[in-house]
Amino acid sequence: MAEITDYAFRTIAKKYGAGLTFTQMVSADGVVKNNFKTLRMLTFSRDERPIGVQLLGNDPEIIGRAVRDLVKFKPSVIDLNCGCPVEKVYGNQMGAYLLSQPEKLAKLVSVMVKNSNGIPISIKIRLSPKDKVNVLENAKIIADNGASIIIVHARNKKDRYNIEADWEWIAKVKDEVNIPVVGNGSVFAAEDAVEMMNQTKCDAVLVARGALGNPFIFKQIEFLKRGEKFTPSIEEIARVAVDHVTILEKEQDFIISLDRAKKNIIWYFKYQNGIENLIDELYSAKSFENLKEIINTHSNNLLDGKYCQVNVDEIKEKFNSRVLFWLAKEE
Ligand SMILES: Cc1cc2nc3c(=O)[nH]c(=O)nc-3n(C[C@H](O)[C@H](O)[C@H](O)COP(=O)(O)O)c2cc1C
Repeated sequence: MAEITDYAFRTIAKKYGAGLTFTQMVSADGVVKNNFKTLRMLTFSRDERPIGVQLLGNDPEIIGRAVRDLVKFKPSVIDLNCGCPVEKVYGNQMGAYLLSQPEKLAKLVSVMVKNSNGIPISIKIRLSPKDKVNVLENAKIIADNGASIIIVHARNKKDRYNIEADWEWIAKVKDEVNIPVVGNGSVFAAEDAVEMMNQTKCDAVLVARGALGNPFIFKQIEFLKRGEKFTPSIEEIARVAVDHVTILEKEQDFIISLDRAKKNIIWYFKYQNGIENLIDELYSAKSFENLKEIINTHSNNLLDGKYCQVNVDEIKEKFNSRVLFWLAKEE
């Protein structure tokens, strides 16, 4: 997830059992030009493997060169984004636009495979814009041109992130191709992941928004598969939130990290009482020390039962539809 799955986020997700994480999407053009910001976004450390990197682009020549460059870093998977609905991306004929360009898609997949030196290529798609059957055609093109994995985000471009994902199409893609299929969309709890696997027979589940402030979901999925339950205590949530802030503090420059840390802290505590108080406190925080104090005070207040009951369903609804922006004042 753009501006989210940085080193801190991935490290904590992995600690709680994520089987594979991804660095943030980067432009293939930026990779071949050695753009500083681009390279920084795709940097990962060796002990993060297995880890994937994701490219955005539409020019076979540039994509091929970018894959060749990426091979040197030895990622575990190289993915092509064919699902991004953002206008800036779609309007430039990249991301989800490629879903309606079968010939281009075929060419891009084959050029990636040819240049990957054996590193598995994955392609992340959405359901197709008009006729969902088209998703099966795209899946077939992807498999026939040598990709190793298909990741299916079971919504179409128009629906962005707003409606329930339509998992039926993950099952249909699974029936259509002989390569591993990763299901994605609307996995907000361990129960959803297990249900998706049972319903669609997909080979793996990709968790996106469900992992925001909730690295525990990966452990919860593992537990649930064994018929057990794992619930982190407030103390554990606070400890992980402080660790998250500490890693961010070391990894990135001050302005980016401070804002990013605030965002993540809110996510960690989003379903707990007192979230509005926490948000108010965080807005004016000016240092990492300050953030850690706020987390500790907040978790102590929670343990002491100082806050009124929040309506979790209301927060969930707001959060799932507004993602990052749910904190912005509604007009
Ligand atoms: C803030 C945000 C940023 C995202 N960035 C990317 C991205 O860079 N690449 C990508 O393939 N998907 C990206 N996605 C989409 C997610 O990977 C995922 O497909 C989508 O959120 C659906 O899963 P969910 O309903 O479980 O959240 C992003 C989603 C969000 C909310």
